[in-house]
Amino acid sequence: MEISGNTVLITGGATGIGYAMAEAFLAAGNEVIICGRRKEKLLEAQKKHPEFHIKVCNVAEEANQKKLADWITTNFSNLNILVNNAGVQRDIDFTKGITEFLAGESEIKINLEAPIVLCGLFIPYLTGKKEAAIINVSSGLGFVPAARMPVYSATKAALHAFSMALRHQLLKLGIKVFEVVPPAVDTELNPEGRAKRGRFKANLSPEEFVASVMKGIKDDVFEIGYGMTEGSIKASRAELDKSFQQMNSRW
Ligand SMILES: NC(=O)c1ccc[n+]([C@@H]2O[C@H](COP(=O)([O-])OP(=O)(O)OC[C@H]3O[C@@H](n4cnc5c(N)ncnc54)[C@H](OP(=O)(O)O)[C@@H]3O)[C@@H](O)[C@H]2O)c1
Repeated sequence: MEISGNTVLITGGATGIGYAMAEAFLAAGNEVIICGRRKEKLLEAQKKHPEFHIKVCNVAEEANQKKLADWITTNFSNLNILVNNAGVQRDIDFTKGITEFLAGESEIKINLEAPIVLCGLFIPYLTGKKEAAIINVSSGLGFVPAARMPVYSATKAALHAFSMALRHQLLKLGIKVFEVVPPAVDTELNPEGRAKRGRFKANLSPEEFVASVMKGIKDDVFEIGYGMTEGSIKASRAELDKSFQQMNSRW
């Protein structure tokens, strides 16, 4: 699809992969709106790129979801691309029962319910727009789950299924549905988990990853992987099982 001249909303666009996508869309000649919960991170991003439009918003809160849609459609009626990128990741050990699951923020609400609701809220506004698209950011862990992050992996597998089904439904509305499937990228995601595992380095910057994502979007590749996840997207069940055993052997 055309990657210039669009109006793009990126959730979680002040840091990491979302920020790299915001920079890439801006550089390609698009109007870019980013949102997130931390105002200071949004202001930091806007300081580097005064062209960014920013909005403080917790996409997991029902009232915020509706307010975001109203604010966007009032102020950016040309919006034609929604990027569901905001996400959190937690290590959760179920051998201890329910305690750890209940102790932190809800990956189900942030990683799964929020993108679903935002798709539902924005589809009426995307309908009829030239080059309309939804871009959902899932994860390689949606294809090969990590035992130490069981709920995160489940939310991303569900987002993959949702994206496939939505792509099929929205064909008749002319809205393209992309799924971006990152491998491990060096970002702020799951700082506690990364700290526990020592100085974990993926050796992949958000910028390098996003350069390839932008090419995928331009070429209408609807499931965009990179490195390991390019393989996971196309792998057989036997190959996925083998990767699962390798990845989780030390848990
Ligand atoms: N990095 C990786 O290795 C990796 C691998 C596979 C998939 N991913 C996916 O890539 C996406 C981006 O993650 P990242 O790696 O770039 O990590 P990141 O730097 O932590 O970015 C996540 C962004 O989401 C925002 N966010 C989180 N919860 C939110 C909420 N309830 N409402 C609004 N914004 C929220 C955060 O900002 P606030 O905290 O200020 O709200 C932050 O800007 C996520 O969906 C993640 O699951 C990452």
